[in-house]
Amino acid sequence: MGDYGKIFGWLIIVGVGFSVLNYPIKLISRRWISRLDRESVLRKSYMMIQKPIVKYHRYFAAFASLMMIIHLIVQLQYRWLSTTGVVAAGLLVLNGFVGGYGHYVKKKKKSLWLYIHRFVAFLAVVSIVVHIVLRGR
Ligand code: HEM
Ligand code: HEM
Repeated sequence: MGDYGKIFGWLIIVGVGFSVLNYPIKLISRRWISRLDRESVLRKSYMMIQKPIVKYHRYFAAFASLMMIIHLIVQLQYRWLSTTGVVAAGLLVLNGFVGGYGHYVKKKKKSLWLYIHRFVAFLAVVSIVVHIVLRGR
């Protein structure tokens, strides 16, 4: 049973991975794809991938949060309270609030919140890497 905790840990990473994809997918779109002809097959195919990633961004984050709660509960039953895990979880929860503020209050309009949101996402990824390298200590 104890090993289930690890599975939920990796599922958090799947959710965070799809959430973070928002950034490179839009960057590539702005730099290269937007210059292609509107009718080009590559542009159309790219947009088919970009659309759900942007549209469901908050649901990928919600999935990650749900997996995080399960991971936390399982690890507390069978392992220990991880310091690096608490830091990573805290950053993800904080970023959920920043994202929620940008989405619902600021209506996705780009301003300071987006820079904070990107930076906290970066810190969260770094803390997750540390959490795994230290094997959940
Ligand atoms: C963003 C949040 C988190 C992510 C992405 C995450 C991810 C992971 C992953 C992938 C592993 C397995 C590493 C391996 O295969 O060796 C792991 C292990 C572990 N995590 Fe987390 N974790 C998070 C938060 C937490 C929290 C809040 C706790 C607090 C209890 C925690 C406690 C642990 C423990 C104790 C282990 C080691 C389990 C073992 O070696 O049997 N994690 N985590
Ligand atoms: C796991 C937590 C989250 C992570 C790691 C994350 C990560 C990111 C990143 C890296 C960007 C930058 C994309 C860009 O530069 O355009 C972004 C944008 C954005 N995020 Fe999040 N996010 C998270 C949660 C949320 C949540 C819960 C919401 C809303 C309820 C949200 C709403 C937004 C919005 C509105 C944008 C602006 C671009 C867009 O419309 O997609 N985020 N997020």
